[in-house]
Amino acid sequence: MRRSQIIGFGSYLPQNIVTNDDLAEKIDTSDEWIRKRTGIAQRHIAADGELTSDIATNAARAALKNAGLDADAVDLIVLATATPDNTFPATATRVQSNLGIRRGAAFDVQAVCAGYVYALTMADNMIRLGQAETAIVIGAEVFSRILDWEDRGTCVLFGDGAGACVLQGAETAGTNADTGILSTRIHSDGEYYDMLYVDGGPSTTGTSGYLRMEGKEVFRHAVQRMSEVVTAALDQNDLAVDQLDWLIPHQANKRIMDSIAKKLNLPDEKIVVTVDRQANTSAATIPLALAEASADGRLKPGHLIALSALGGGFAWGSALLRL
Ligand code: ACO
Repeated sequence: MRRSQIIGFGSYLPQNIVTNDDLAEKIDTSDEWIRKRTGIAQRHIAADGELTSDIATNAARAALKNAGLDADAVDLIVLATATPDNTFPATATRVQSNLGIRRGAAFDVQAVCAGYVYALTMADNMIRLGQAETAIVIGAEVFSRILDWEDRGTCVLFGDGAGACVLQGAETAGTNADTGILSTRIHSDGEYYDMLYVDGGPSTTGTSGYLRMEGKEVFRHAVQRMSEVVTAALDQNDLAVDQLDWLIPHQANKRIMDSIAKKLNLPDEKIVVTVDRQANTSAATIPLALAEASADGRLKPGHLIALSALGGGFAWGSALLRL
């Protein structure tokens, strides 16, 4: 069975770090409130003029270097982002051009915080069907540009950043002991559109708009959906939760992750956490966490890893993979 192998990880975080205390100088909040409710201590914020395509390109270059591949090996770029450079064309095509690639296909995927799982799903399906051989799957966001910096209920939660993985097709035995992406699952339910959205866009206000959110509802659905979609992925592959080496959940809030761990009966040590230092970078949280845990040696060959995310839409999903 042809499966997508993950052969490289890369990431990029903007240099500028904004602490909770920095925010407390501008809005009515405190380090204590933010840490207690979310686990967040700081976030990276893109510099003026630093675009989604710039940070995505940096992460993609790092992932290619980690994979030991030249850009000309790549025939697919899928970029998950809710903060594209322009309304069109796809920011992925700018990344393609930055990397000097003139062949294959490059496109964006929009599923907000679930975007990386959606993008992996698209790339994995194309590789398994033989439509692509080597893909870079990127999550990159500059959420700082769609935040209402006067709304303390939302602006403290997010940060900017980019992460990427390189996928390549390979023949495997077709069992749950294979390496590579074992399965992906994606779901959405537009009934919840108004729970988490941006109040602008080309066909509504003609402006980019700002993020709006019903925090408590998002919290509740995130815990429920992100847990059940991991269980479904394990069931689909005849694997049990105690066989998981790592859960890499979308990093929105430490309390959401703690609740998921409890629901799944998974020890805290098996969860990769970056939200404390990076806040919620939407589609970039999962590839940033993968890159960090790979670079520091936590992820090892043979490890079974579940990815899980929920975002605006609501859209949610999971991926199960073995390194
Ligand atoms: N600093 C200080 N006080 C604040 C802040 C802040 N930054 N934000 C809100 N408050 C106040 C509120 O005004 C309110 O005050 P009041 O009681 O006087 O009215 C009080 O704190 C409680 O506010 P709630 O909104 O009820 O606080 P809650 O416990 O629900 O926590 C939070 C809010 C952290 C946003 C929580 O709902 C949450 O984490 N939700 C998940 C949302 C999320 O992570 N979204 C990310 C995008 S979606 C995703 O990635 C899954």
